[in-house]
Amino acid sequence: MGTLKVRVWRGDAAGGEFREYAVPARENQTVLDVVTQIQREQEPDLAYRFACRVGMCGSCAMEVNGRARWTCRTHVKRVAAPGEALDIKPLANLPVIRDLATDMAPFFDKWARAGGTFQPKDAPDGAVPAEFSVVPPESKQRREADAGIECIGCGVCYASCDIVAWNPDYLGPAAMNRAWTLVNDVRDGARRERLEAVSGDAGCHSCHSTQSCTERCPKNLDPSSAIAGLKRTLFWDSLWGRLR
Ligand code: SF4
Ligand code: SF4
Ligand code: FES
Repeated sequence: MGTLKVRVWRGDAAGGEFREYAVPARENQTVLDVVTQIQREQEPDLAYRFACRVGMCGSCAMEVNGRARWTCRTHVKRVAAPGEALDIKPLANLPVIRDLATDMAPFFDKWARAGGTFQPKDAPDGAVPAEFSVVPPESKQRREADAGIECIGCGVCYASCDIVAWNPDYLGPAAMNRAWTLVNDVRDGARRERLEAVSGDAGCHSCHSTQSCTERCPKNLDPSSAIAGLKRTLFWDSLWGRLR
């Protein structure tokens, strides 16, 4: 059994540095296994986050050898050639709490800013309309909504987006993917407000369509196309005066 050279970023919001560790190399070892080994055997105060270990919760995302990934679903041999070091950092574009744990609050605040909460139509008193569940499964809108609904809020796309890095106010791919899902939900009554929320300088028109979000989403979602859908819808709604 060989040894794996691992560099882990240690620090907090004030700054930090990489520290080196040697970890026993094992067959089928994931990056999360490596971080856990370091925490259990070498650095009991190493801060990091995980929950399910099987690619369901999205909480274990970190930057591994320059790219945001779910560490529980990333085998070491996929990202580091034999003898190559493993560099593990906290997700980019988010404040660091400590070591590998980031503060996800700005990410979820942007979901709220993009109108990410479902607002039932015609139900001001909270009553559920009788036709609430009737959504034709083959309709175009239903298929558009279904395409983005499986987002689990892991932040991988957000950490991979250059526009978020340049403009911290930018809503980012996940929040706008959520907005597009709801714009296509025929049961939702806040279409206009939601489109207005994503139309400003921090919204969909600032996306440069680089597609890093789509390329890196571990759920194979396509936030880039969702944002393009928002742009198209805003164009037509502005043309027909539906945003006033
Ligand atoms: S397509 Fe848009 S949202 Fe996605 S990574 Fe590129 S700039 Fe960011
Ligand atoms: S769109 Fe994909 S990468 Fe982005 S938060 Fe959702 S699941 Fe994660
Ligand atoms: S720990 Fe849940 S997705 Fe990795």
